[in-house]
Amino acid sequence: MLTVKKIGVIGSGLMGNGIAQIVAAAGYDVVFCDISRQNLDKGYQAIAARLEKEVKNGKRTNASKDELLAGIMTTTKYEDLADVDYLYEAVFEEIRVKKELYEKISKTCQPACIFSTNTSGLSISEIASVTGRSDKFIGTHFFNPVPVMKLLEIIRGYDTSDETYETAVAVGKSIGKEIITVAEAPLFCVNRILVPMLNEAMFVLAEGVASKEDIDKGMVLGANHPIGPLALADLVGLDTLLLVVKTLYEETGDSKYRPCPLLVKMVRAGRYGRKNGK
Ligand code: NAI
Repeated sequence: MLTVKKIGVIGSGLMGNGIAQIVAAAGYDVVFCDISRQNLDKGYQAIAARLEKEVKNGKRTNASKDELLAGIMTTTKYEDLADVDYLYEAVFEEIRVKKELYEKISKTCQPACIFSTNTSGLSISEIASVTGRSDKFIGTHFFNPVPVMKLLEIIRGYDTSDETYETAVAVGKSIGKEIITVAEAPLFCVNRILVPMLNEAMFVLAEGVASKEDIDKGMVLGANHPIGPLALADLVGLDTLLLVVKTLYEETGDSKYRPCPLLVKMVRAGRYGRKNGK
């Protein structure tokens, strides 16, 4: 197992800013990177706002909030990730975007650095193939909201070494997560079960079977889910959800996973949910 002191987090959106927060809270030095300075500032502010809430609720002191924030260095330059020991990546769920990113950072990050992707279901082995260090590449799938959800799904790619796996498990535990280990397969384990349900909830809505309120009420009261499937889709982001449904459909070729046309239409209309206020 490798010694990890400094951790990079690339992507400062919904998932990345949650990851940066819990990594810093566990005492690691964090380099927090995004190509967009605007998104990076937004992500950093989201962390600061959550910590401020903890201070107000008496769960954290002001001093510990300031210390935690001081441990997060923000940057838009990949070169600033040169000396991180371990990297969590949470950029857009598009294989092209992820591969282009890894082609670049494989040249700027030290050779010993482990890369771990927070993909919701893309192929770990395919992304790893462009890095020149596929033995040091692994999938670490967090759940939203990251500071709250306990689970971390770990997925080994074709070449992932035992050392990389053991390091990913140790780092995951050190930031407070419970681990499940899953074989590489379209959408892994949890999303393979969860995502078709969210897509199906959109079909139920589109077919007029029930109102959006009753769909969510039904699943909360009838299936004991903490929030309904439409509320969860709203939280995940419809744009990301659609990309993930498409992966399942394309990888399996099974028509039962076809994206609901209403989901497609809403994404085309820019209605992503809570993340963009639409
Ligand atoms: P998001 O859309 O909120 O944020 C993505 C961020 O990545 C943006 O700030 C964007 O500027 C940045 N970015 C894009 N390309 C980049 C590049 N080349 N270099 C640096 N930064 C770049 O997305 P979200 O929801 O945080 O998702 C990120 C990843 O996490 C995706 O792979 C997604 O499938 C996965 N995921 C999402 C979950 C969710 O509930 N939204 C749950 C679990 C995993």
